[in-house]
Parts: sequence; structure tokens; C-alpha cells
Amino acid sequence: MKKVLITGWRWMLAYDFTKLFSDRYELVSLSSSDLDIKNFQEVERKVSEIQPDVIINCAAYTKVDDAEDIGMKDNYDVNSLWVYNLAKVSSTMDIDFITISTDYVFFGDTEKWYVETQNEHPINQYGMAKYLWEKLALWENKNSIIVRTSWLYWWGMSYKNFVNTMIQLGSKLDSLKIINDQYWNPTNCKDLSIAIWELLENIEKYRWQKLHFSNTTENHGITWYDFAQEIFSQNAISVEAIPCTSSEFPTKASRPSYSKLINNSDIQLRNWKEGLKDYLDNL
Ligand SMILES: NC(=O)c1ccc[n+]([C@@H]2O[C@H](COP(=O)([O-])OP(=O)(O)OC[C@H]3O[C@@H](n4cnc5c(N)ncnc54)[C@H](OP(=O)(O)O)[C@@H]3O)[C@@H](O)[C@H]2O)c1
Repeated sequence: MKKVLITGWRWMLAYDFTKLFSDRYELVSLSSSDLDIKNFQEVERKVSEIQPDVIINCAAYTKVDDAEDIGMKDNYDVNSLWVYNLAKVSSTMDIDFITISTDYVFFGDTEKWYVETQNEHPINQYGMAKYLWEKLALWENKNSIIVRTSWLYWWGMSYKNFVNTMIQLGSKLDSLKIINDQYWNPTNCKDLSIAIWELLENIEKYRWQKLHFSNTTENHGITWYDFAQEIFSQNAISVEAIPCTSSEFPTKASRPSYSKLINNSDIQLRNWKEGLKDYLDNL
């Protein structure tokens, strides 16, 4: 049985992956209090003690707006330097290293989607740190695999995510404005977990590659507005959804207007509407 070390234990992917696959792998999941990945010696000591076959890194600094100013140092420390620590230790010990990245490594200003080999050009500091993260991981460890995903949502009404927020707001308001000028693929975290399981089962095929794992959409992807409309429709919520532009909800960090990820690998995730239905059926 493969031994898999997961960092960022409290994160949704770690949680879902463990729930689905704890009988198939020997899983060791660590939170930030179990392992300080800033500390190279500690990472080295912990990894050599655990001796995993694979590390899945779910730890990240994720405050996209704060990364522009007050969180800039943490953003680069966590999202670039610490990942380098993990990649370096796994390279020395010949361990496979899977790390989660984002569609925000792309600029996304034109009406197009992004394939795995396309040139990156981050639009904000968070995306820049993740871009460096990818480069460092691939440079340091030939067994690194970059899994880019986008707009994740997860089980449970207690967790703050877009789907849960729309259900709550849509049930109590008569109308609400929703951004309709950013296009992407949403991703049910369960589907991402299953894709990572498929990846682990044939890991030698995917080493030193970038993979795009998100639920599939048609055309250029969908917007928050499209996603909300589908959430309302699948929940029979009647609320007036009013499309608006992102300029009506300004944020410190710019977001790509078009960041749909195209997946050319043989591991495919299902359509976004099916992923959403499964999520809602299990709430
Ligand atoms: N959410 C999305 O829609 C989305 C989209 C695309 C890509 N991603 C990628 O998915 C990953 C997670 O994103 P998220 O926004 O969903 O994450 P999140 O909920 O903010 O979770 C981040 C995880 O990182 C861990 N972490 C933070 N600082 C740490 C530290 N100093 N040492 C060890 N662990 C630390 C946290 O662990 P503790 O709880 O123990 O502190 C937490 O489990 C990122 O790589 C992100 O780029 C997310």
C-alpha cells in the first residue's frame, strides 16, 4: 500500500481525499501545527521519519487580495519558498511530489482558454507566487507534478463557498447582483480528489508535468452569474439574478477575465452541471 503524506490537512482537498481513499492508501495528514513547512530542517526530519512514497501539498497562502500588500511577504514565503523546501526534500529522498496550483498563473485578458503548455503570465501577486512555486517545484524535483485547478467548492453548508452563499442569499432576497465578466471552470472538490486518485494509480506517466483538473464547461467557460443561475435552477430557488461587471465589486487584486483550463490528459473530470448536482444531492 502506497504511503501518502498530505500537507494542509484542514484544507478541503485533503479532507475529501481522505474520506474517499483512506482504505486504499496509508495516509499521513499534517496541519500547519504538525509541520511548519517554513523550516527546512523540520520538513527534512518529518519526511524522513514518515518515509512517504508521495507528498501531496495542499498547504498554501490563499488571501489573494492581501497578497497585493499586507500579505505580500507571507504570500511569497508560503507559495514559493516553502514549496521549494518540500520539493527539495522529496527530490533528495526520491519521493513523488504533487502540488496544487491555480488558473491565476494566467493573465486572461483575451477570449480564450488555457492549455497546460501555454506561457504563464500572472495578473496578480498571488498568481506570481504560484507561478514561481510551479517553476521551483519542477526545477528542484523531476518527480514533481503540478495540478492546476479553479474555483473549488466543497461539501458542507458550514464551509463558506460560492454555492452555499448563493443558496443562503437566494433563499432570502428578491434579487441580487452577480459578476458576469469573469469566465472559468468551477470544480467540485470530490471530482478533483478522484482525479488525483487516478493520477496516483499511474503516477509514473505524469511525472514532471502540469495538469489541468477542473470540471468541464462549454465555450469559454462560465461566469459567477451563470454558476449562480444553475445553482438557483437546481435548487428551485426563485430570485432575480442581475448580471453586473466586476468593476461594481472592486478588489485589490486583479482577476483574469478568461481563465478556463483545458485538460489534455487522459484523466477527465465530469461536466460542471453534473458536479454541481452531485454536490447539492449530498448537502
Ligand atoms: N479555493 C479555490 O477555489 C482554489 C482554486 C484554484 C487553486 N486553488 C489552490 O488550492 C490550494 C488551497 O487553496 P484554498 O484557497 O482552497 O485554501 P485554504 O482553504 O486557504 O487552505 C489552505 C491550507 O493551507 C494550509 N496552510 C496555510 N499556511 C500553512 C503553513 N504555514 N504551514 C502548513 N500549512 C499551511 C492551511 O492549513 P491549516 O488550516 O492547518 O493552517 C490550510 O489547510 C492552493 O494551492 C490554491 O492555489 C484553490
